[in-house]
Amino acid sequence: MTNPFEVAATAAATIATETGVERHDVAIVLGSGWAATADRLGRVIADLELSDVPGFPAPAVPGHRDLLRSVVAHGQSILVLGGRSHLYEGHEPDTVVHGVRTAAATGCHTVILTNAAGGLQPDWGVGRLVLIRDHINLTGRSPMVGPAPPPDQPGRFCDLTEAYCARLRGLARTADPSLVEGIYAGLLGGNYETPAEIRMLAGQGADLVGMSTVLETIAARHVGLDVLGISLVTNLAAGLSPVPLSHAAVVDAAAEAEDRIVALIGGVLDQLARP
Ligand code: HPA
Repeated sequence: MTNPFEVAATAAATIATETGVERHDVAIVLGSGWAATADRLGRVIADLELSDVPGFPAPAVPGHRDLLRSVVAHGQSILVLGGRSHLYEGHEPDTVVHGVRTAAATGCHTVILTNAAGGLQPDWGVGRLVLIRDHINLTGRSPMVGPAPPPDQPGRFCDLTEAYCARLRGLARTADPSLVEGIYAGLLGGNYETPAEIRMLAGQGADLVGMSTVLETIAARHVGLDVLGISLVTNLAAGLSPVPLSHAAVVDAAAEAEDRIVALIGGVLDQLARP
């Protein structure tokens, strides 16, 4: 079976059978170091191993979790993905975006994509939560490359004018008025950037830099999901940071922000639940 949308439909059917939850409303993808957040989002209905669901490799990056959890929060069914796959692990775009396509196939209307990011704004300290207003996809890849989507799916040239939903950003700011917004540059990754690359990205308008999210957002918009993107600045970017960059420090910074992340996501879910 090579059609990725069919794999997503099979994954959604497995999730419905194994969790007993026929439809989910909102999906949350937890970024590096955010995995423990899954324990605090609501009432747990069922846990699966992500890698037992068709199309999902086991998350292999420290700070990610082999967990797919169905939770009820504020009267809504939430699909929590405890980890994600990245291009830098050698995965293809279809694998990287399988979570959001599966979320859409389970009935979700919204996906909350979280990530750890380097900050390009010198006055944004470590621990700053930032709403992604837009992105620059510098991975050189797209989930819309390949055979045309099947006839039951929208065509490939999806509109990304409002990739990150303004209404959802408004709900997030209501939940936490201290939130700022920024442009996320998504790179292939596998290594952190050089200071020269960071200066170039700053000149191109980036406020954040990371190795995920952009392909997931493209795939989510293609299938009609509204996207809320939340970055946590886990370090100042290369050349701005007073200390060498390390994944362990990224994961630690994410863990320290857990209370605020849980409160923010809870605040957004609470408002989404209201008619
Ligand atoms: N660069 C790229 N990805 C990241 C960074 C960074 O500085 N921090 C966390 N993820």
